[in-house]
Amino acid sequence: MKPTEAARRHAELAAEIRRHDHAYYVEARPLVSDFDYDRLYRELLDLEKAFPDLATPDSPSQRVGGAPLKEFKPVKHSLAMLSLDNTYSQEEVRAFVKRLQKMLPGERLEFTVEPKVDGVAVSLRYESGVFTVGATRGDGTTGDDITANLKTIRSLPLKLEGGLGVPPAPHSPKPEPGSQAPPRKGAARQEDWAAVLEVRGEVFMSKAAFARLNAERAAAGEELYANARNTTAGSLKQLAPSLVAKRPLDVVIYGTGLIEAGGAKLPGAHDQMLQWLRTLGFRTPERVWVCRSEEELIAAINQLDQVRRQFAYETDGAVIKLNDFGQRERAGCTAKAPRWAMAYKYAAERARTRLKAITIQVGRTGALTPVAELEPVSLAGSTISRATLHNEDELRRKDIRVGDLVVIEKAGEVIPAVVEVAKERRTGKEQPFPFPKICPECGSKVTRTIDDAGGGADASGTERPGEGYVVWRCPNPDCPAQVRGRLEHWCARGAMDIEGGGEVLVAQLVKSGLVTDVADLYRLSRAEVAALERMGEKSAQNFLDGIQASKQRDLWRLLFGLGILHVGAGVAKALGRAFPSLDELRTASLEELASVDDVGPVIARSLFQWFNDSRNKALIERLRQAELNFQSALHQPHAAAGPLRGLTLVLTGTLPNLTREQAAARIEAAGGRVSGSVSQKTNYVVAGEQAGSKLDKARSLGVRVIDEAELLRLCRG
Ligand code: IVH
Repeated sequence: MKPTEAARRHAELAAEIRRHDHAYYVEARPLVSDFDYDRLYRELLDLEKAFPDLATPDSPSQRVGGAPLKEFKPVKHSLAMLSLDNTYSQEEVRAFVKRLQKMLPGERLEFTVEPKVDGVAVSLRYESGVFTVGATRGDGTTGDDITANLKTIRSLPLKLEGGLGVPPAPHSPKPEPGSQAPPRKGAARQEDWAAVLEVRGEVFMSKAAFARLNAERAAAGEELYANARNTTAGSLKQLAPSLVAKRPLDVVIYGTGLIEAGGAKLPGAHDQMLQWLRTLGFRTPERVWVCRSEEELIAAINQLDQVRRQFAYETDGAVIKLNDFGQRERAGCTAKAPRWAMAYKYAAERARTRLKAITIQVGRTGALTPVAELEPVSLAGSTISRATLHNEDELRRKDIRVGDLVVIEKAGEVIPAVVEVAKERRTGKEQPFPFPKICPECGSKVTRTIDDAGGGADASGTERPGEGYVVWRCPNPDCPAQVRGRLEHWCARGAMDIEGGGEVLVAQLVKSGLVTDVADLYRLSRAEVAALERMGEKSAQNFLDGIQASKQRDLWRLLFGLGILHVGAGVAKALGRAFPSLDELRTASLEELASVDDVGPVIARSLFQWFNDSRNKALIERLRQAELNFQSALHQPHAAAGPLRGLTLVLTGTLPNLTREQAAARIEAAGGRVSGSVSQKTNYVVAGEQAGSKLDKARSLGVRVIDEAELLRLCRG
């Protein structure tokens, strides 16, 4: 291909990928299948390999490019990033309106109300439409250059759509509150771009993504992150962009900083500015109200309170802004905050109750977690009688004592937590809690370990000093609490999926001495199980059937079920893809383990240690004798490369030219996998003459059906 032709095709692909990214990440309305998207993306990468000059900073390939940094460079903000005055009182909101009216006598004031996004403030600089520098707020004057990390956020456009000259006319009809105008189409000319456009917004992790991340951590035996905001901040502070790319971050833009746009006419008010920012490709706040009176303003903040829980991000308040930029100019700023804006914070759902006792929970990995046992109290629609106290540091920092009257809070998706102590109500009888030095379950002396906090350390081992916190662990692998935890984890639906193997039965099995590890399950007799308290013949049989069936589970479930530190379901699957069987995996070197996709040095070390521990070696041998499946169905010998990498195809009917074996060989050679049955996970069904029920199933599930010719095209890439 000639360079000019390559450049033309590259530009075409880049524009198309940007359009799909916007549709998927900003509008949540995908236009193409993942497969088609990947194909475009791969073509772009191939072109850049052949013509490296095409990999310009605004290319969609440049999201995860950066090498780890030693430190962040400081960036001086061209306009200070101010903070907002905030209040919990509607009276103060009214006073704010009156104050502004006094400052701007006789003028008609219009306000906007929008969600206060609970994330991390950033400033993004675009030069001639291309993203160049992104920074944290820092002290308001100077922040950290986190450009490489921000580039990994897929809803952040690397290159803007549209240009100048498209802002809506100042007297265009008012948009419906909260309406999102569709982005204007039509390519802008280069000279239409603002030389400099800085936008400001908030990086966040959606509530759903945060819950998923924590579920994965729980399954991998890792400490849970306390909240989405801290996790976002921790993620953005990672020095290795490849790690940030794994965190599901998002960004919403609510304002601008410096704009240099020659004499171009820019939006004169906030609502229009947001509309313009949307046409450029930015995600803007979910809802925006335009209010023309104090009453409308109060109504809007109350309405926002009604709907804010449905938003993707945590919102703890409303930001109220004067709409007109001319009026903002005249109202001015104090040293810290603008006079034309303020934040109204919704009172978090809180309640006061008595802390009756502190108990200690010992987890599957031996971690000791203090739990507050509370006088039951109703909060945000449920009755709360326990709350986590996280760890010893947290207890000391808040000076929580048994007998205290405490304030508990439930914010969004967060687990109820004790936020403060009503110290003024102390009688002197409250008792500080001596953190146990021995395990309450087995009496072993506990040991101190340092765990990472909020993304402070990660799989790469990039640890940031000072961000860890102390976790006490019971070092005794035979501790009944740990034994129970491991067994419950093995039986869990996401792992070996053994029905009936819940908390109650596991506790009985351990207490009776019948079971001390997961291999013992496979030696249980019917009589032994049936003799347990409250256990009938039928449920005993069901449980034993479940145990029997679990012998056939795929390798990744077994790996996940073993509860190796840092090995969640995702890592277990990655290992299942990389290794054909447990025997190759357990004898792999540290380097081999670390070279697996999604497995960094920390996880590799954890696996290596686990498999080289003599007790674990013995356990594996007993599982082998019990005839558990050690083979991985996920293993793809040809998956190293190829256009069908990661895809599952099903063959049905007679193809015009290829035999079934030949078709399967082609698919596997192209990195794909052939499966015998159609499911939600099937990417394509290849149908020939006289295709039968598989074709019907594909149609009912909406799986794409292709013919032989199309298959051959896909295999060529
Ligand atoms: S406007 C001049 N709008 O709240 C101040 N800020 O407490 C410009 N924030 O530092 C800020 N959502 O990080 C604005 N819709 C929103 C916001 C918002 C969240 C954050 C922002 C700011 C902090 C101030």
